[in-house]
Amino acid sequence: MAVATPLLLFLLLAALTLAVAVARGYPADVVLNPPSEAPTAGMGGLVSATNGTGAYKGMAREFVDGHNKVRARYGVAPMRWDNKLARQARRWSNGMRGECVLRHSGGGRYAESLFIGRIASASDAINKWSTEEGIFDRQTGKCTGALDFHHCGHFAFIVRPNFSRVGCGRAECFNGGVFITCNYYHD
Ligand SMILES: *[C@@H]1O[C@H](CO)[C@@H](O)[C@H](O)[C@H]1NC(C)=O
Ligand SMILES: *[C@@H]1O[C@H](CO)[C@@H](O)[C@H](O)[C@H]1NC(C)=O
Repeated sequence: MAVATPLLLFLLLAALTLAVAVARGYPADVVLNPPSEAPTAGMGGLVSATNGTGAYKGMAREFVDGHNKVRARYGVAPMRWDNKLARQARRWSNGMRGECVLRHSGGGRYAESLFIGRIASASDAINKWSTEEGIFDRQTGKCTGALDFHHCGHFAFIVRPNFSRVGCGRAECFNGGVFITCNYYHD
C-alpha cells in the first residue's frame, strides 16, 4: 500500500474492531451471555490513543449525545450525564484493564452495559449496542418474540424512558483492547 489515507486507515481500524457487549438488567437481575466473539487474548501490539488514560477529549459528550440521538428517534426524553455514574463506570473499566473480559461490576445498584472492542470510541460502543434494535419491541420495552432480555438489553437501556441519567467510562486494556462501561439510573 503506497499511501495510507486517513479514510483507508479509518476503514482498516473499523474492520479490526471486534465489538462485543453484554448488559445487566435493572437492578441486577439479567446478565447477558458472554458473546462468542469475545476477545480473550492476543490483542496486543497496538499503540494507545490516549496513553493509557482511556478518556479522550469530548468523550463524555459523545457518549451522552450518542444515546440521546437514538432516544430522540424514539421520542424519548434525553438523558443527562451523571458524574457519579461515570466515576463508577471509569473505576470498573480501569479495573478490567488487565483481564479485559466481559464481567459485570456486580454492584447491583445501576443498570450496566459493557463493551470490549479494539481501538473503539464511545460511538463504536453505542453503535454496537444499537445493532440489537431489530429485536427490540418498542411496545413492551422487551425483546421481540420469546427472546430473553439479554439479547436486546443494551438497546433497551439506551431508549428506556425512565432512565434519565447515564455515565460511562473507557479504559485501554494492557492487551490492546478497549473496555467501555455505561451505567444508567432513573431519577
Ligand atoms: C505516557 O505515559 C507515560 C507513563 O505514565 C509517561 O512517562 C509518558 O510521558 C506519557 N507520554 C505522553 C505522550 O503523554
Ligand atoms: C423502568 O422501566 C422498566 C421497563 O419498563 C421497568 O421494568 C422498571 O421497573 C422501571 N423502573 C422504575 C424505577 O420505574
